[in-house]
Amino acid sequence: MQNRKPGFKLLSLFAAIAILSGASALNAQGKDADRPWMNPQLSPEERADLVLKQLTLDEKIALLHGNGMAHHAGWEASLTALTNGGAGYVEGIPRLGIPGLVMSDAAYGVRDSGANGRYSTALPSSLGAASSWDAESACEYGALIGSELRAQGFNMTLGGGVDLAREPRNGRTFEYAGEDPLLAGTIVGNLMKCEQAQHVVGDIKHYAMNDQETGRNFVNAIISKRGMQESDLLAFHIAISIANPGAVMCSYNRINGDYACENAATHHDVLKNEWGFKGFVLSDRGGTHSTEKASAAGLDQEQPMANYFGPKLREAVDAGRVPLSEIDDHARRVLYAEFLSGVIDDPPQKSVVDVEKGFEVAQRVEEKSIVLIKNRGAVLPIVPARIHSIAIIGGHADVGMISGGGSAQVDPPGGNAILPPGKGATQWQEHIWFPTSPLKALRAKLPHTKVDFDPGSNLDSAAKLARSSDLAIVFAYQWESEGMDLPNLSLPDNQDALIEQVAAANPRTVVVLETGSAVTMPWLDKVAGVVEAWYAGSSGHKALANVLVGEVNPSGKLAITFPQSEQDLPHAVIPPPPPHLRGQGTGPVNAGTPDSNYAVHYDEGAEVGYKWVQAEHKTPLFPFGFGLSYTTFAYSALSVDSAAKTARFTVRNTGTRAGTEIAEVYATLPKGTDESPKHLEGFARLAGFARVTLDPGKSETVTVSIDPRVLQTFDESASRWNLAPGDYGVFAGPSSDHLPLSGSLQVR
Ligand code: BGC
Repeated sequence: MQNRKPGFKLLSLFAAIAILSGASALNAQGKDADRPWMNPQLSPEERADLVLKQLTLDEKIALLHGNGMAHHAGWEASLTALTNGGAGYVEGIPRLGIPGLVMSDAAYGVRDSGANGRYSTALPSSLGAASSWDAESACEYGALIGSELRAQGFNMTLGGGVDLAREPRNGRTFEYAGEDPLLAGTIVGNLMKCEQAQHVVGDIKHYAMNDQETGRNFVNAIISKRGMQESDLLAFHIAISIANPGAVMCSYNRINGDYACENAATHHDVLKNEWGFKGFVLSDRGGTHSTEKASAAGLDQEQPMANYFGPKLREAVDAGRVPLSEIDDHARRVLYAEFLSGVIDDPPQKSVVDVEKGFEVAQRVEEKSIVLIKNRGAVLPIVPARIHSIAIIGGHADVGMISGGGSAQVDPPGGNAILPPGKGATQWQEHIWFPTSPLKALRAKLPHTKVDFDPGSNLDSAAKLARSSDLAIVFAYQWESEGMDLPNLSLPDNQDALIEQVAAANPRTVVVLETGSAVTMPWLDKVAGVVEAWYAGSSGHKALANVLVGEVNPSGKLAITFPQSEQDLPHAVIPPPPPHLRGQGTGPVNAGTPDSNYAVHYDEGAEVGYKWVQAEHKTPLFPFGFGLSYTTFAYSALSVDSAAKTARFTVRNTGTRAGTEIAEVYATLPKGTDESPKHLEGFARLAGFARVTLDPGKSETVTVSIDPRVLQTFDESASRWNLAPGDYGVFAGPSSDHLPLSGSLQVR
């Protein structure tokens, strides 16, 4: 789908620099007296209005479409060189000092740095970052990406994925922040708030219901309005209200019949009217399907070409089929986003990325993201006085750790670590290992321990090494990418058999998972420990080694349920598209296929992840919100303040090490207010959380706000939110399935 074009035109670098530095040059020369919109004392709205008054119709329309995408055969236009090697370029208005928008993908780091001869830090995957439950860490994550975008000459990000992990086989699960709207919205909201604060236009995507990649260009996601509002849309709303991003990207799929990028219900009614979003909506690449319909529904900008929002839009305006007021609204929104984010007052200056800083931030985020899932007999942390030999097995742990693919892919320095040097060109959907060897990192931490490696390709040889070692650590991976879904949640490449065999040879076996989503673990009872490291980023090996040896006490908790099997998901399989539309999962970009009636029916509504598990009385392998520490914590004395909507309780470190506990608060709704008539008992919803760091024996009383948005229900007939009067259950504890404290909150 996304092919790389060899070579890159240097011209684009110079042209982008020239255009981006235009505004600041004018500022410096004090030429702004006749440009009142350059006055930073005015609000972004006022400034956008002042510019709008100056624009010709053609200038307005130029703001409403892209001009191609770098490295992408078939999506080239005359100005594509100005993309700066990125994913999109929108013309500015040089005569008025308005710069062009130069966009790059940046999910867990800036994309295409290899192809552009640059360098980017890879942060841990977003699902990993969400497992830190830490808004501050998310902020550091976003700020780092924002600064690297600017250093590379971009002034707009295409990051900010917040689609819910409703379908854990979704190949983009690693790009999103898990299954809960409050957690995902909080993490992605803070990430994007801090990214935009670096003066790049922020973006939240893919709006909405883009919860699987299979048939993504035409699949019709069918879901009740209430179910959608209380799940995926709630995640978007929370993220958008925290980040106040300049842009929202609409997705490829259809929602209840209409394409997401021409969906009046989600754009016009919800995003713009109900939530008051003032920025602009841009389409995912090739996700625009019409002119009049899309414009009226609230699409502001077509990307990456001008098939519908270029000459055709001009024609539609001239013929009176699109009112000028609509064009003004679209253009005003683009200008507003530019003023809001600061890209006009402070355009990016190209510079060298601060590589060391990137390593530090990536390590800090990963240390908070790693989840200790199982630790029988305190097999971890490794105590060198007792463990004299360690077998490291599988997962290419001798050279690196895996990363997530597609448009999120960050290019590894030096190329793919599992290929010989010089053969490391990153291709679309190539499985990429970063040069972050956990074997080397562990050896550095344990200089007096014998640490040997076996690739795991021969099970007998792996078992032999495990048998002769005091401890075995198997590195297991699950690769994912945009443009495909996982066939199931099993580890690929015979890794389950490898783990079984190693565990049979040595009961002190620990499995380190490098996964983009949940995985099943048929071998779980046979191993002593499991550590989830996610896609660990540029310093993943160091963070992991610190956790394994106990220099860092793990604190992450799962942002996604690990089910026992696919049978425990709302849909045991992803419904396959009709045979003529099957391909690599996504189908041809922009194929349109209006004849297709391929649909997914999200009958589970808002019962996503742990909510489904609870409502159906399933027992997960590991529940949402679960994670162990090298110390233990106890919870006591819950009191709920109904007026203030807070829960207050005490967390105590009952173990022997300092540690951080993520304390979770859930709420149940008054009887009869939950959505599903099938599940009358309802389900608990995450309502708040806090990270508490405690020395051994110490305790702290925390006050957690109960987010009223998760207590409300959406009334479809009146199209509004209700906070039903009644008694709400309030629960606190260490995980969604273990909530020792209970109380209630009254709404009168
Ligand atoms: C992806 C977007 C991405 C865009 C530009 C699309 O295929 O769905 O997430 O921002 O490409 O690369």
